[in-house]
Amino acid sequence: MTETADHKDSYSPSAEFAAAANAGAELYEQASADRDAFWAEQASRLHWHQPWGQVLDWSDAPVAKWFADGKLNVAYNCVDRHVLDGHGDQVAIHWEGEPGDSRAVTYRELLAEVSRAANYFTELGLEAGDRVAIYMPMVPEAIVAMLACARLGLTHSVVFAGFSPTALRQRVDDASARLIITTDGQWRRGKAAPLKEAVDEALFANGDVPHSVEHVLVVRRTEIEVPWTEGRDLWWHETVTQASPEHEAQPFDAEHPLFILYTSGTTGKPKGILHTSGGYLTQVSYTHHNVFDHKAGQDVYWCTADIGWVTGHSYIVYGPLSNRATQVVYEGTPNFPDEHRHWQIVEKYGVSIYYTAPTLVRTFMKWGREIPAAHDLSSLRLLGSVGEPINPEAWRWYRDVIGAGTAPVVDTWWQTETGAIMISPLPGVTATKPGAAMAPLPGISALVVDEEGKPVQRGETEANGYLVLDQPWPSMLRGIWGDMERYRATYWERYAAQGWYFAGDGAKLDADGDLWVLGRVDDVMNVSGHRISTAEVESALVGHSGVAEAAVVGASDETTGQGIVAFVILTAEAKDTGAALVDELKAEVSREISPIARPREIHVVPELPKTRSGKIMRRLLRDVAEGRELGDTSTLVDPNVFEAIRATKA
Ligand code: WTA
Repeated sequence: MTETADHKDSYSPSAEFAAAANAGAELYEQASADRDAFWAEQASRLHWHQPWGQVLDWSDAPVAKWFADGKLNVAYNCVDRHVLDGHGDQVAIHWEGEPGDSRAVTYRELLAEVSRAANYFTELGLEAGDRVAIYMPMVPEAIVAMLACARLGLTHSVVFAGFSPTALRQRVDDASARLIITTDGQWRRGKAAPLKEAVDEALFANGDVPHSVEHVLVVRRTEIEVPWTEGRDLWWHETVTQASPEHEAQPFDAEHPLFILYTSGTTGKPKGILHTSGGYLTQVSYTHHNVFDHKAGQDVYWCTADIGWVTGHSYIVYGPLSNRATQVVYEGTPNFPDEHRHWQIVEKYGVSIYYTAPTLVRTFMKWGREIPAAHDLSSLRLLGSVGEPINPEAWRWYRDVIGAGTAPVVDTWWQTETGAIMISPLPGVTATKPGAAMAPLPGISALVVDEEGKPVQRGETEANGYLVLDQPWPSMLRGIWGDMERYRATYWERYAAQGWYFAGDGAKLDADGDLWVLGRVDDVMNVSGHRISTAEVESALVGHSGVAEAAVVGASDETTGQGIVAFVILTAEAKDTGAALVDELKAEVSREISPIARPREIHVVPELPKTRSGKIMRRLLRDVAEGRELGDTSTLVDPNVFEAIRATKA
């Protein structure tokens, strides 16, 4: 550890790292001197078919236009131009299948694959602006499918392959997708689990309700049996693979929609976050280059996220590929066939940049340091963290055990809505503190304010600050699909007078003015870095005939950050069913939403704590779930309900 003069627990980059880093301190100065010019320069790292007229048009706030009148093709930027620049033989993707098979895809091969898919999608009659749902595990074709959509101006909506048929159907309907791309099955810890079957279940759900889907395109992965509907269903290897590998990319407007990605909000209905092309690609490319200090042709980069989440969109697909990265894409879980898997992969490919979530770091800690110690991890030179606050202990362990005590750790704060990293150290500049996201990146502006919008003081110990973004940024969401009113209400109403974006996170500034993100302040839980709304889980629970009422809270959990704790009141008929019903309810939530939403605990209670106006007091339930002394109970109708609730927890 390097002790700097100004702070006991901060880690400065080595002189060697700083000297070679992509980003120097001057970026902050350039950005604050002229923000628009700064972003224009970042946009110039891309290929534009037609230059833009205006950098930022905020006249229609809160819907921004970045680089208006500019035209580009996102896929051309991620693939074609690297081949044209003479890098066709460079590996784009070192793909590692869960069962141990692997495949290297060069940029030339990627171009051919994406072109084939684009030609075939065109043959299917898909046109720019149409929506395509992608429900796939981590196979190269998933990335090909996303890029082929981008190439044609089709809007992809990737649905995490761990989501249930119900969740898939809801998303497909909301976006009126014409095509679903999936696989026959997916490998899960050595077993082939069906996936195409889930698509069929989704499409046949709700009886005969008509839907928008014309075709289901299926990649063969596990070779398990699949249900088949002639005419509607198509095999990828009989169609895309047979199509021509030549395709000329057409330019699209900078504001042309690129993708919709659904994320949990504070109600049961997920929000389709809409992202567009030019500004999004500018910022994911800029941040990938500077935050990860990525050097094309030298680094081997690995982001362990799934393409079903925004991290996979921005830091597996668009950011790295726009920067001509060579990256590892791994299909499976970190402990298959055993806990050595990630470190074997790091060793095998010489991974130099590794980006993961705190929950996985904590899991590695639990497995023990002798596991990574059995491997040569000397290729690793930079480590990243995303998805939830990283506790200082995990941060230090990450740097010491995985990063040999030298690799800079970048704790990156951002959201599905922000599209790209917003708050993070710059690895060659910042003296980092374990647990702190530190400062907004050059070109980004953020404030920590109180309820009224007054900036909080540095070093205030009370955690009463809210994180807001007071300036538009290039990769910001452009709305919620089909519900612009909800867009305004969710993000822009809280600080409407100031015109600020409310992120939904609590934050504080330490005595040095460095920023610490503390986690959600709304009814959104963060379980292993996945956003799940309390309302969604509650609605799955009350969907069960035995449940009269349900309240769900996120309680702190040593490994997953938060764990889901549910309190349910049973119907009179279900009262005597006991423990079996609790298991059944957990299974119901898994089925209805996803196994990641499965409650850690379900407590059957006689009553829920409510205010006089009938609002459930989640804060008090959280106290109970975390075993704390109760906070203020004076507004409760019946303070005695807690005795009864406590008794059920004993
Ligand atoms: C949380 C994931 C603390 C935060 C990219 C945010 C973090 C939500 C961090 C977004 C971090 C993400 N430190 N909290 N470095 N990164 N979060 O949309 O609560 O899946 O609002 O995007 O994750 O989750 P999302």
